[in-house]
Amino acid sequence: NTVFVLNGPNLNLLGTREPEIYGTETLADIETMLHEQAGPLGLEISFHQTNHEGQLVDWLHEANRQDAKAVLLNAAAYTHTSIALLDAIKAIAVPVIEVHLSDPSTREEFRHVSYVGMAAADCVQGLGPRSYAVALDKAAAL
Ligand code: DQA
Repeated sequence: NTVFVLNGPNLNLLGTREPEIYGTETLADIETMLHEQAGPLGLEISFHQTNHEGQLVDWLHEANRQDAKAVLLNAAAYTHTSIALLDAIKAIAVPVIEVHLSDPSTREEFRHVSYVGMAAADCVQGLGPRSYAVALDKAAAL
């Protein structure tokens, strides 16, 4: 009953990165919050961050190999560019929930397309760190 939480490029800098957009909580804060939320839901969290596109592809495959319950995926900028991620999501049986701290649809035009969203089962965005919490509740309900 594992939920993979995969984070893409620049999310390791959360806390200091454009705080007016992404807030001041760090990725470690988000990881701690999810571990606390997961326990009562009977779920385990496998939490990862990378700045490399192919690593995200590898972890999606790994989630599938481990028959994970779901993947929460904040692919960050790769959301808007990566056909490889779209194909990986299509290639696996595990449901993927797209997550964003901000709401890309209200930002620059180039953030309005989401390749991840073309194959994801659901999407939670614009709630700051709470986007992850809402997505985990959705994963638990799958
Ligand atoms: C983001 C939104 C993306 O457009 C951006 O490239 C990110 C973070 C978010 O969580 O709001 O790096 O995925």
